[in-house]
Amino acid sequence: RTIYLNGHFVPETEGKVSVFDRGFLFADAVYEVVSVLYGKLVDFDGHVQRLARSLGEIGIIGAPDADDWLAICRELVARNNLKEGMIYWQVTRGSPEDRDFVFPPADTLPTVLAFTQSRTLADNPLAQRGIRVITMPDLRWGRADIKTTQLLYASLMKNEAIARGADDAWMERNGWITEGSAQNAHIITHAGVLITHPLNREILHGITRASVLPLVAQRIEERPFSVSEAEQAAEAFVSSASGFVMPVVQINGQKIGNGQPGSATVQLRRAYIDWAR
Ligand code: PDD
Repeated sequence: RTIYLNGHFVPETEGKVSVFDRGFLFADAVYEVVSVLYGKLVDFDGHVQRLARSLGEIGIIGAPDADDWLAICRELVARNNLKEGMIYWQVTRGSPEDRDFVFPPADTLPTVLAFTQSRTLADNPLAQRGIRVITMPDLRWGRADIKTTQLLYASLMKNEAIARGADDAWMERNGWITEGSAQNAHIITHAGVLITHPLNREILHGITRASVLPLVAQRIEERPFSVSEAEQAAEAFVSSASGFVMPVVQINGQKIGNGQPGSATVQLRRAYIDWAR
């Protein structure tokens, strides 16, 4: 695989980053995951804009601009002959000469990394079966809207969910669902209303969420929903760049609907993939 690192396209084994890199020592870094479907980038503009926002919120300067990212992505897709999968982008505050909580001088260059991952996205077998989730307390910091690489809690939750026989976790704060470990969470009530958490600092402002909502046939309410509302929903699903629209068929061991992916969810997944191609 060819990767991109700091202006160069190199074999993955030749990419080298300092042990003092602030991404490595402090998770002082932001990232994006962009899917590639039929050789085409999905929602590129949304991901570039969100990356710029994340960088702005934590004050990292000197990252590639939208045209640079497009050129980097096209080159990686071509060199790796990627038809379907993801491109991962990461920008860190760079590599000073020592470990220090204080930011390095403003002329320190950010570390810029991008690589591809080949994945089956459109015909993902998980989407046929649907996923089972378990709710866990949302113990993340208060700025979930910034896409930082501080993913330890997400990783711990996902592994605990798997150890407990489920597939993934939904996070809950005072009984209200915020989002999934790495996906936005949505339910459809028996009255046919889609409920999704409003955009604030408690969740990541999903790019897939933004593209999916205009395709929804149901009425939409942007408000928090409770764990018990979720357990009693007619349908549930998550949205993310890597999973698109992914049905949820069980929450805390409770079957959602008849335990199969819901019909509105299946329709929405198809609509999104059609829109993306
Ligand atoms: N995760 N919420 C969280 C906490 C996420 O990490 C993600 C993305 C989303 C969905 O956002 P989007 O639709 O823009 O992908 C919501 C990516 C895919 C990841 O970490 O791999």
